[in-house]
Amino acid sequence: MSVQTHIIGVGGYLPERILSNEELSTMVDTSDAWIRERTGITQRHIVSEGQQTSDLGAAAAQQALDDAGISIHDIDALLVATTTPDMIFPSTASIVQYKLGGKGFPAWDIQAVCSGFVYGLAQADGMMRSGMFKRVLLIGAESMSRIVDWTDRNTCVLFGDGSGAVVLEAVATDSKEGGVIGSVLHCDGSYRHLLMAEHRYGGNAPGEKVDFRVDAAGVAAIEMKGNEVFRMAVKKLGEVVGEVLEKHGIKQSDVDWLIPHQANIRILKATAKKMKMPEEYMALTVDQHANTSAASVPLALNHLYRQGKFKTGNILLLEAFAGGFAWGANLVRWSK
Ligand code: ACO
Repeated sequence: MSVQTHIIGVGGYLPERILSNEELSTMVDTSDAWIRERTGITQRHIVSEGQQTSDLGAAAAQQALDDAGISIHDIDALLVATTTPDMIFPSTASIVQYKLGGKGFPAWDIQAVCSGFVYGLAQADGMMRSGMFKRVLLIGAESMSRIVDWTDRNTCVLFGDGSGAVVLEAVATDSKEGGVIGSVLHCDGSYRHLLMAEHRYGGNAPGEKVDFRVDAAGVAAIEMKGNEVFRMAVKKLGEVVGEVLEKHGIKQSDVDWLIPHQANIRILKATAKKMKMPEEYMALTVDQHANTSAASVPLALNHLYRQGKFKTGNILLLEAFAGGFAWGANLVRWSK
């Protein structure tokens, strides 16, 4: 029996605390005008003390489960795309599983930075088509504020925290139309030095006393060559969008909604322009959420979904570019 992967539930969560450009301008040498003009960002949400990536992920996941009308006990695999895990191990996915009251089924993390959700959707789709899983909970969750150097104006203005989630179901192709059409993924590690957060806890010598309570997120900071990343993002996103459409025989004009990773409004607009896509058919959340890395694509999806924008049969194009560099795109025919 051939199956296709359908999105049957969508959810999102943003922490309560909002950090505006104005407030940020009191912390580093920047201004609301500079941030708006160069990035389109006006504010970002920030986790509260003690709030973990798994808390954000569990909140979005619960909303997606409720939306699908099922419980965690109906799920048979759970994936969390994150670059800001609660701990080095165990996986954030295992912690989310526990917090949702699930048990027994496999749960693991995906690390492709801002492309994590796009990679995760491709991975889940492949596994579900092979018959391995019937229902998968796929989450993108990040506490980027924990790995930002809050004294570096080049990067700290760009990021925010949040999470988004989808419930995926494998459905026989002869019983329902639509679902994930297909995906394209790429990575080129020769660019890794342009965008990275090195962890700084290596080098513990045998016999040395080490403070094991320093967590992974507390000792790393994002470093980025902004304009080089910008140029490559525009180029590679343009290419990958063309590639995924060609691979699946879909015309640019057939795409109803563009759901891009939300890094910078200028990158978003460049991709929409290349696709000749009117901007009102492009998800835009970077202004309110900033760059939430792996959470950004599912949060953008949730944003449009909650406004009732998607109609059955609509074609959605999801795309992302990330540190690595790792980039990719998914095509989905809306069926919910
Ligand atoms: N406030 C004021 N001035 C600033 C700030 C700031 N927050 N940040 C940088 N500047 C200054 C710089 O110091 C520089 O000053 P100088 O000319 O005196 O040296 C000037 O502004 C211009 O800096 P650029 O870096 O050239 O500015 P640019 O127009 O490229 O914008 C930005 C910078 C917003 C970072 C842009 O390059 C960008 O969005 N890059 C891509 C980010 C991205 O897509 N990341 C991918 C995903 S993230 C992930 O995977 C984790």
